[in-house]
Amino acid sequence: MALTDLAYQRCISPQCGETYGTDEVRVACGKCGDLLDVLYDWNRVKPPTKLSDFEQMWTRRHEPLRFSGVWRFHELLPFAAAQDVVTVGEGQTVLQRADSVAKYVGVNSGGLYLQYEGLNPSGSFKDNGMSAAFTHARVTGAKRAACASTGNTSASLAMYCSVTRLMKAVIFVGSGKIAFGKLSQALDYGALTVQIAGDFDDAMARVKEVSRDLGIYLVNSVNPFRLEGQKTIMYRVLEALRWEIPDWIVVPGGNLGNSSAFGKAFSELLELGLIDRIPRLAVINAAGANTLYELYENRGLRWNGGNGGPCVACDYYKELDREGKKASTIASAIEINRPVNLNKCLRALDICDGVVRQVTDQDIMDAKAQVGAGGIGCEPASAASVAGAKLLREQGVIGADERVVCILTGHLLKDPTATVAYHTTDQDKFNEVLGSRDVKRASFANRAVAVPNDLGEIIKAIQLYS
Ligand code: F0G
Repeated sequence: MALTDLAYQRCISPQCGETYGTDEVRVACGKCGDLLDVLYDWNRVKPPTKLSDFEQMWTRRHEPLRFSGVWRFHELLPFAAAQDVVTVGEGQTVLQRADSVAKYVGVNSGGLYLQYEGLNPSGSFKDNGMSAAFTHARVTGAKRAACASTGNTSASLAMYCSVTRLMKAVIFVGSGKIAFGKLSQALDYGALTVQIAGDFDDAMARVKEVSRDLGIYLVNSVNPFRLEGQKTIMYRVLEALRWEIPDWIVVPGGNLGNSSAFGKAFSELLELGLIDRIPRLAVINAAGANTLYELYENRGLRWNGGNGGPCVACDYYKELDREGKKASTIASAIEINRPVNLNKCLRALDICDGVVRQVTDQDIMDAKAQVGAGGIGCEPASAASVAGAKLLREQGVIGADERVVCILTGHLLKDPTATVAYHTTDQDKFNEVLGSRDVKRASFANRAVAVPNDLGEIIKAIQLYS
């Protein structure tokens, strides 16, 4: 099994810049501890000279490599040889024009698009990255792979392990907070599921220690190969727009893997001369898990050429510890206070002239209902992108005539509890059932109509309500 000699790993800190071969399994720089990038010798890769050349790959869809919406773009992430790529058909996702959501957000008809990553085999965007990390794990000879997860990473890892039988999955979840759709996937796919008495941030810290001590391959987004796969979400957005660059990409922010990957994707495309401008990036935190927002918008933390600042983030984390403050949001997927990709995300915000916003659980649930009413649906965390776009539009940051792409990161059915509670619960029981103090009303509830089991009454009800 082979890695190509076209790629290497490099520390993202310009002051350090230590390099490593792609055969090394690392989640941090051995010298300074910062994150790593996968970089390529583009002169030798020779990717297509026009992005539209990738469309020719569609004619080779009988080849698993080109059927995949990730590996169709293999030339833009060529760290492994074609025959060693692991794919389960990820990335067959769509960019959907969504006029009813455009109206809700306040942009002109035809200006708002939803990139629906819920169509991936495990129901979330994670499969894009997992396919790449899994490929790297396989070529480096890993037998077991681990992750900490709010549910989607674990569902994805468990799926790749059970479909391919190439590795065993060990997953760490915080107790209580994982949505049932996601937990059911991990259990059904047969992953060893370790439920830690703690939250995601605790699970993340532990899984790093455990994987180091037991030599288990770690597939969280601190793994630079994961993010290579997630770059392809942007390639598919551009592809769907016939290679036109939108004005805005709006994405929920949790561990900040997507935002980091998107920034890298655009800076590489620009470097390769495949695009001539970069869209702006908006990263949306839930207000109850708003580390990036706090650091970027309130405390002025910036990438600053890799010189971030005299540990603005460490001071903030110390504050969180002192106050015993834990992340808390109905959008359980992004209930994260210590985002592992913070530095890479700061770099992406720099590359993409980015902004960060926070939205309340109320905003998230209302936006989610609007996305659902528009006919696609998504899980709560995904709707943060739409709620964020609406906020940015209200603030005049996004213009009514701009072209906006919101990333819907996960499938509606991942968290049915939140959806059903929103639509059916009485206002006064809302907090109790939804487990969020912040959701006070279900502005767009579609309540079930209760009728006796009687034909006449049923017909009467239908005539009354339809
Ligand atoms: N949306 C969904 C549906 C997610 O599952 C996640 C992350 C995010 C957004 C945030 O993405 O980390 O790239 O900023 N879920 C991880 C998990 C943490 O364990 O499944 P990010």
